[in-house]
Amino acid sequence: MGVLDSFRLNGRTAMVTGGSRGLGRAMAGALAEAGADLILVGREQAQLLVTQRELLRLGNTVEIVVADVATPDGAANACDEALALGQPIDILLNNVGGRREDVATENVTVEQWAGYLDLNLTSALVCCQKLGKPMLDRGRGSIVNITSIAGPIAIRGIGGRHYETAKAALAALTRSLAADWAGRGVRVNAIAPGVFATGPNQKWFAEKPEFEQSFLGHVPMERFGEPSELGPAAVFLASDASSYVTGATLVVDGGFTLW
Ligand SMILES: NC(=O)c1ccc[n+]([C@@H]2O[C@H](COP(=O)([O-])OP(=O)(O)OC[C@H]3O[C@@H](n4cnc5c(N)ncnc54)[C@H](OP(=O)(O)O)[C@@H]3O)[C@@H](O)[C@H]2O)c1
Repeated sequence: MGVLDSFRLNGRTAMVTGGSRGLGRAMAGALAEAGADLILVGREQAQLLVTQRELLRLGNTVEIVVADVATPDGAANACDEALALGQPIDILLNNVGGRREDVATENVTVEQWAGYLDLNLTSALVCCQKLGKPMLDRGRGSIVNITSIAGPIAIRGIGGRHYETAKAALAALTRSLAADWAGRGVRVNAIAPGVFATGPNQKWFAEKPEFEQSFLGHVPMERFGEPSELGPAAVFLASDASSYVTGATLVVDGGFTLW
């Protein structure tokens, strides 16, 4: 197989949680451009339909699943619905997550903490279990978990350390699952994005303008990432181009974690 052909995803189906907006939408678009059929998961049907219409122009099939994957049961139901569509799912992109609250650790309740661990970690585990089993049965599959640079480091000036904790654990889960499943044809990798100006960050910047300059000051490239800059990384890890890569976390952060 030639180098460029190894990136092609024709004939493969990818499920992208949170594929209707933001980074998930950009990565889903890149997977479709590489030839993949898509199953997009999100809570708002209207936005899913908009994205479905846009991505259908690339010529592949695009199914949508309206579901809330913030809880383990919700994640399991979303996977069941996706599997019921009947196509084998070859690629799982676990993208849903977020900090959502700037809360000091001394004030966070155990209930808040547990909820965010479900959102950022346990739901991804459930999707890995639900879609990973059939991948193991077929002896083929690629899972990509979206972690964050706020896993290996704590982001300065913002609370909500459930986020750092969950993303670090998701990277650890990525490595462990990769080890367990490497001999059975299923690769498990992660992408750790730096700062991208998607909806959640724009909200933080509007509420606390000092964050924007502070975050920017940490980036050696002196700019935030464009969501489209994650697409090639997702295609690489999803495809045979990375056939000997498993358990890796690919950092895409403009150098944020270098300083
Ligand atoms: N943006 C960054 O700078 C950055 C940096 C590092 C890591 N990340 C990680 O990248 C991922 C995506 O972030 P983003 O900034 O692209 O977020 P976003 O713009 O808020 O997009 C989130 C996507 O997920 C869906 N979603 C959210 N909660 C959901 C739920 N409970 N169930 C199902 N779908 C849900 C949204 O659709 P609905 O609202 O319709 O459900 C949307 O499609 C997250 O895991 C985040 O932690 C982001």
